[in-house]
Formats: sequence, C-alpha cells, structure tokens
Amino acid sequence: MHNIQPNLNKTYLKAASAKGVYIYDENGKAYLDGSSGAVTCSLGHSHEKLLPFIKKQLDKLQFVYRSQFASEEAEQLATRLYELSPDKSLTHSFFVNSGTEAIETAMKIAIQYWQENGKPEKTHFTTRKKSYHGITMGALSLSGHALRRQRFEAMLEKYPALSADLENDSLEDQVAEFEKAIDTIGPSKIAAFVAEPMVGAAGTALAPVNEYYACFKAVCDKHEILFIADEVMTGLGRTGTWFGMEHWGTQADIVAVGKSLGAGYAPIAATLMTDKVLAPIKKGSGLIMSGHTYSGHPLSCATALKVLDIVEEDDLLDNVIKKGAYIKSALYDLQKKYPVMQIVRGKGLMMGFELDPAIKGMQAKLIEHCYQNGLLIYPAVGGKEGTDENGVLISPPFTINKSETDELLGKLEQSLKECS
Ligand SMILES: Cc1ncc(COP(=O)(O)O)c(C=O)c1O
Repeated sequence: MHNIQPNLNKTYLKAASAKGVYIYDENGKAYLDGSSGAVTCSLGHSHEKLLPFIKKQLDKLQFVYRSQFASEEAEQLATRLYELSPDKSLTHSFFVNSGTEAIETAMKIAIQYWQENGKPEKTHFTTRKKSYHGITMGALSLSGHALRRQRFEAMLEKYPALSADLENDSLEDQVAEFEKAIDTIGPSKIAAFVAEPMVGAAGTALAPVNEYYACFKAVCDKHEILFIADEVMTGLGRTGTWFGMEHWGTQADIVAVGKSLGAGYAPIAATLMTDKVLAPIKKGSGLIMSGHTYSGHPLSCATALKVLDIVEEDDLLDNVIKKGAYIKSALYDLQKKYPVMQIVRGKGLMMGFELDPAIKGMQAKLIEHCYQNGLLIYPAVGGKEGTDENGVLISPPFTINKSETDELLGKLEQSLKECS
C-alpha cells in the first residue's frame, strides 16, 4: 500500500460510496456514521440538494488566486458568516483550508493586532491543558493534548495552560488560576487567551459552567488580552446554535471555524474577527500576514455557502437540538445499565461519554465492536488530566432521523453488551 493511513500496520477497508448517514465499504457493508467522520459531515453524505449545486459551480468557476481576484463566492460566504454571527459581531472572514490553519491564522492576527497597536511584545498565549487546537507547530503549541504533543515537546512553545477542572472547581478558583497565569508571564506579553467553548477530542464534550466565559472575557478585557474561541468543532450548528459561544452569551474577538463549514464536501475553514481586530491592521500595514494558495477557493466557498443555506432551509438546528436531547437521555439510560460508562455530557449533536479509565483498552475495544456492528464513533481523551484514552464522541449528521437515531443507539448498546 502506498497511501499512508493513520496506522501503518493495519489494512483499512475501502469506502466505496456513501448516502445519507451511511457509508458503504468495498464489500457493500453499511456503517452508520455516528461521528460524522471527525465531527464533520453535518449534512450526511451525497446530499441531494448540495450535489447538483456543486456540479453547477464546477462549471462556473473553480479557482482564482486571492492576490489576483476576489470572488463573488468568497464575498457571499463572508457576508453570510457575518449575518449568522452573534449580534453580527464577526464582520470579517479569512478563509483557509483546515481548522489547524484557522487557528494558526488566528494566532498571527492576534499578534499582528497588537503590533499594529504599538504593542509588539504581546506574542504569548494562555490556553487550557485539556485542549486540541490543531496539528501544526503553532496550533500544537496551544494544545494540551498529550498524545499529539509528546514527540514534538522540545520544539513547542510552553504557553501557560490552565489545569483547573472546568466542571468541579469553583469559578472563583478558575478565575484566580487564570489571573495567576497572566501574572506569571505579564499581561504586557500576552496576545490572546484561546479556548474551545466545549472541549472536543481533548475533553469528550467537556463544558465549563454558565458564567465562565463572561468572567474570563472580563479578565481578558481588563488586561488587554484578546479572546480567541476555537469553534472548529462546535461552530456552525453542531451544538444546536450557530456558534457554541451562544450558549454562554459571550462574544470572542476572533473565532476559528472549520469542520461543519464545508461539512466534508469541501476543505474549508475560516478565521472570523470583529471590526475592532481588523481595523488597526487595515489602517496600519493593510495586510494580514497569513494565507495559503487555496485560501478563499471559490468552489469551496460556494459549497460552504450552500451548506449553511441547507442547514437553515431544512431547520436542521431544531433537529440537532431534538435528536441531541433524545440521544442524551438514551445515553443516561445506558449508563444505568452499563456502569463502565462513567460520565455522559454534551450539547446538541456533540455528545460524549467517558468509560472507566481503570479498564485499560476499553475505548479501543468498544470502537472496534461498534465498527464490526456497523457503527462509527469517535475517540476522545478524558480523565482528570485529560490523558486517559477513555472518551467517545457521538456526533451524527444534523440530518439524522428518528429511526436512524434508534439504530445508532441499538448498535451502541449491542457493542457495550459485547464489551461488558
Ligand atoms: C477544536 C479543534 N480545533 C482545531 C482542530 C484542527 O482542525 P483540522 O483537523 O481541520 O486541522 C480540530 C480538529 O479536530 C478541533 O477539534
């Protein structure tokens, strides 16, 4: 085999086709996509409204380079994201191709914002230990995900990472830890605080208490620190609102989105920002020092625009909320039957549960049994330190219907039974 898959010593089955919430392998076996791939395929597969649109766009315009032309497709998508953003606060979009790139660009914009405001020493970040922000060196420096960091530790920046327990420590203690971290480096050196509204792969749908972000934003404002919300997983409908931060009623200065933006139909992500962030850069150098050959790709932008249209037209956020609540209550029922499921949490269709970390290998075993039973679920880490490989994310497409949801839950229970 020449193509490199994650595990070099495993033979992977080939996917032959996919439709709706199902993926079919080369032998014709169906798998219910209970994780939307990597929490990505929000419209499911081969969506009947989207495919003809993509084909039409392909005939019109595929690619132009961003330093030579603007495109109607990118303009419209930026306008749409602005309109969807809380209180129309995210006035500008910088398009990239992956969540990682959106975070790298967010870091650069934050640093540049302070440079253009005459504070070039503000180049550090504060983050949380339970976090994953991307795989390149900059984004990985922000991430606490031990497994993904460890080989490169020597080369990564050591930003102060908050380790307070988001669910169990008092908010007062968490804010005190934040203030202390800021003090250690000095607020005059910190460009931004970076956080996922709900922690995905590095926390199994872990979320802080209601007042958390308002308090942290106030601390950021007090010390002239920007707030970057990493909404790569939570953004654009996954938690039942367009932006995850809406659950906390707090607005970030810079927001990274990805995954559900292209919904698996196009590699596209974006760094969104407020007018406050863009204004000094526009007035100063007039150039954001980031970008990629494929940034603002018209075919990807047009696809993303149609994805957002479909989510709206088909009232899919309502389905996310309803099916999310149904799955959550079913997971609580399963927890009563299978004590190996220790924690259940989540919002919308970003649901997760943590397995007993004392039973080594349980996560891999459950995922394998689900796979054999035709169900795809997504691994995450959990535990006190965020280093236990014991988490599972359940995040089917927004389009999932009642009988498919029951099938998902049935296959999950069957697999839990086999593993117990
Ligand atoms: C919260 C978060 N940020 C960033 C990323 C990186 O995105 P990508 O894999 O598209 O580069 C991910 C991917 O899982 C993520 O969940």
